[in-house]
Amino acid sequence: MEQKLFDHLQRRLRYTETRSAPPRGFPDFPTIHPGRYYDPDYAELEQTHVFRKSWMVAGHKDEIPEPGCYKTWNRAGEPVVLFHGQDGEIRAFYNVCRHRGAVITEKEFGRTRTLACAYHGWIYDNQGKLVSIRDQRDFPDFDPNCYSLVPIRTEMLGGLIFVNFDDNATDLRSSMGPIYDDFAGDYSFHLSNVVEHFAWPTQCNWKLLIEGGTENYHVRTIHRNTLPDYRELQGIITLFPNGGSRDTLLMHVPKDENGLAMEGFVRNRDADRLIDNQADDRPANPNVDPFSNEHGFVYSVFPNMQFGPFYSRGFSLSCYWPTGLGTAIHEYYILGYDRSGGPKSKFWDRDIAQGRAVLQEDLDYINMVQRGIVSRGNKGVKLGYLEARLYHMNQTLDEKIGREKIKPELLVEPVINSDWIYPNDISRYEADMDRIDAELDQAAQ
Ligand code: FES
Ligand SMILES: [Fe+2]
Repeated sequence: MEQKLFDHLQRRLRYTETRSAPPRGFPDFPTIHPGRYYDPDYAELEQTHVFRKSWMVAGHKDEIPEPGCYKTWNRAGEPVVLFHGQDGEIRAFYNVCRHRGAVITEKEFGRTRTLACAYHGWIYDNQGKLVSIRDQRDFPDFDPNCYSLVPIRTEMLGGLIFVNFDDNATDLRSSMGPIYDDFAGDYSFHLSNVVEHFAWPTQCNWKLLIEGGTENYHVRTIHRNTLPDYRELQGIITLFPNGGSRDTLLMHVPKDENGLAMEGFVRNRDADRLIDNQADDRPANPNVDPFSNEHGFVYSVFPNMQFGPFYSRGFSLSCYWPTGLGTAIHEYYILGYDRSGGPKSKFWDRDIAQGRAVLQEDLDYINMVQRGIVSRGNKGVKLGYLEARLYHMNQTLDEKIGREKIKPELLVEPVINSDWIYPNDISRYEADMDRIDAELDQAAQ
């Protein structure tokens, strides 16, 4: 991390813990209409203009490690097959036969050089090429080269396989912006591997899931037993272009020049223990910098991903998938930095158990939110400053859909202007902190 940003974040953290109001000039959020969580037209617009046009995680290379391995994937409303080709490249295709459109296979994982469509047996190789059809004499002048599987744009970030159904979308790096460089750099995604992967069905709109992950306001209440050390925690909020955002949390108390814990910070004993405990045999990310070791970073990546918190041993990734108006899937990966292929460290068991317990609490409450959000007693969603990432995500959703296509009562007012989007936000916060310092100086005189 650059020294300038490091200094800014250190200062911001102090400010975050002592501030008595949102930064001066930060917008107040108008009430959001609850119909955004149950209106079928809005859900349709999300599918057409967001899920069909955004980069999304379809899997990890560890799931299809060898040439010939494949995975079928249906989470984003289209049948997809991810193939590890004989040439070593990972590609995504529509899992749709070029003969009469049957889904070629419903098997979740497999390994093969060629894949035969179950209906009439047209055969494709693991690079998507049609290699043979039965009774070719009945298809005169047939050119198999014109009947390869239809490719879907695919990009790798570390081992993560991103897909995008939109051929005209910008590349993954431009779409993620500064977040991409953090992931490819300090967090060394290329060194990480899948430690755990599971998916939970939920009884709520998908947005409630990602929104639950983009604020810490609920931690002190619903996670008070599972995350007791996070009780007083407030994060540094950073809003990125294109709907992404970051929370920077203090995980480990900074030391002063004498090696003593600096005062004024809430201590996270659990993170201290993890970092200090020499018995923890999990390999650490070799590129993690001291700041990242003391802080937890949680990122939202538009539209449906939540990465982190990151720490030296690993990080988590949640993907939230709509399956209906009031149902969704919460998919969860834990990634570590152990590519040895040996047995998993027992320290992961503790982390996984804690992750599951925390997620279960989130799901229990979010399912309850869904029941209230569709009630006639719900007069709207009122957000505070700590929920700015959530508002930013919703404001971006409307922009990506096209505001003119949305029922007027469902629109969120675009009150977050570019002043509060990274990197412009740095000078806004610096100005606010300078003002507070000046006021304190004056009061002390
Ligand atoms: S639909 Fe696939 S071979 Fe006929
Ligand atoms: Fe939570």
